[in-house]
Amino acid sequence: MNLFARRRVADLQAEALQDQKLKRALGPVNLTSLGIGAIIGAGIFVLTGHAAAQYAGPGIVYSFILSGLACAFAGLCYAEFASMIPLSGSAYTYGYATLGEFVAWIIGWNLILEYLFAAGTVAVGWSGYVVSFLKDLGITIPAAFTSAPYNHTAQAGLHWWNIWQLFAHGWTSTGAILNIPAMLVVAVITILLIVGIKESANFNNIIVALKLAVILTFIGVGVFYINKANWHPFVPPVDADGNFGWRGVIHGAAVIFFAYIGFDAVSTAAQEAKNPQRDMPIGLLGSLGICTILYIAVSLVLTGMVNYSQLNVPAPIAVAVNSLGPSLHWLEYSIKIGAIAGLSSVILVLLLGQARIFYTMSKDGLLPPVFSVVHPKFRTPWIAQFLIGVIAMLIAGLFPIGLLGELVSIGTLLAFAIVCVGVFVLRFTDPQIKRPFRTPFIWLTAPLGIGSCIFLMVIGLPADTWARLIVWLAIGIAIYFLYSVRHSQVQKRSK
Ligand code: ALA
Repeated sequence: MNLFARRRVADLQAEALQDQKLKRALGPVNLTSLGIGAIIGAGIFVLTGHAAAQYAGPGIVYSFILSGLACAFAGLCYAEFASMIPLSGSAYTYGYATLGEFVAWIIGWNLILEYLFAAGTVAVGWSGYVVSFLKDLGITIPAAFTSAPYNHTAQAGLHWWNIWQLFAHGWTSTGAILNIPAMLVVAVITILLIVGIKESANFNNIIVALKLAVILTFIGVGVFYINKANWHPFVPPVDADGNFGWRGVIHGAAVIFFAYIGFDAVSTAAQEAKNPQRDMPIGLLGSLGICTILYIAVSLVLTGMVNYSQLNVPAPIAVAVNSLGPSLHWLEYSIKIGAIAGLSSVILVLLLGQARIFYTMSKDGLLPPVFSVVHPKFRTPWIAQFLIGVIAMLIAGLFPIGLLGELVSIGTLLAFAIVCVGVFVLRFTDPQIKRPFRTPFIWLTAPLGIGSCIFLMVIGLPADTWARLIVWLAIGIAIYFLYSVRHSQVQKRSK
């Protein structure tokens, strides 16, 4: 058993050329749109208001810049890998080529948090918007079917090593049974994904256009209603609970990091891209850049329109518009429709990405072969997609958004940090490989990427989230030793 067994980059590149089972249908516009489709979602539409009201005030703008910087460093590292090794396993495959099988498995295992769990999280946000919109129309769904049966409140004073207490305590019953709308949206999108990649990409393009139109309208209209008094003080002083101030800005950055998650989903579509060497960096960095600018603009306008203290609501952008009076009701409804559509595309891209990662892990032998069965007619990994859909439905139906969001963020930050390590290491171990895109100033970019991700994990996320990450990793490591290492193609070849 060699835990550090690596896959050669040359072999991976040959595999990317040979494996033509998935349909190559996506160009640079589709890929950028795929990225935007995954990025703009529950983060900006749901979590921003909460982060501004609780932690950062208008300083949430700085939180977006901080988080955006961490993602930019990671994004530049992803771009080098994605153009060099255009396989749908994304960070998992990059880990295999650089740091060996065990680290690759750990990345792949964390990507489940980033994709599958995030899809469930966003479905919960989707459900919140749908319920609120239906209420506007006079239709009320019974509360028992619109939220998770349990809620979790963090326990003060516990350390991350108190894993059992962090797990067992703090749960309260909400009286609800299941979040049915959240489960339904996952089911419908799963069916769409099984039917085809091109159909899914077209659906995504339409939704992204709608989502961008709504965000731009909000910025364009809202800018005329800014009351500069709302921006003073821009970074509110620390309060009695220790919130706000610069520490609050950092806490806010860790919370809204969720808003950036998904740009790397572009790299999971590498085997469905027409010209991945050229278009992967465009899709990754283009979508990240566009969304960063939009987020900064939205948070400036939002905190300028209403006082941050009023934003701790599930639909902060709609609430801000609502506060301007009945003449702008049309915009409030448009925002809700845009958010509902926009959150659907996030779920779509995340579920799509998860199936592609499982497909690759299964082909490497680390997951059972059923995960790489491709449908003869639709040419999609349909069994994997189906199983992922079922699990995401359960997550969406059973868990609250706050708990899920933080778990997703910590897993993703860890995966991003390892990708930055990988790109750095490969420059030394395999300097001769042709790199269609080179991460600029690697000596600076990679360490800054690693440092900023770890900083957000350590300073920004609470002990119970760390405890969950540790349990998640322990389960993953057990599966690796019980199944993956015995079926690994690389281990078999090296015997
Ligand atoms: N970035 C995605 C969202 O905010 C996951 O919904």
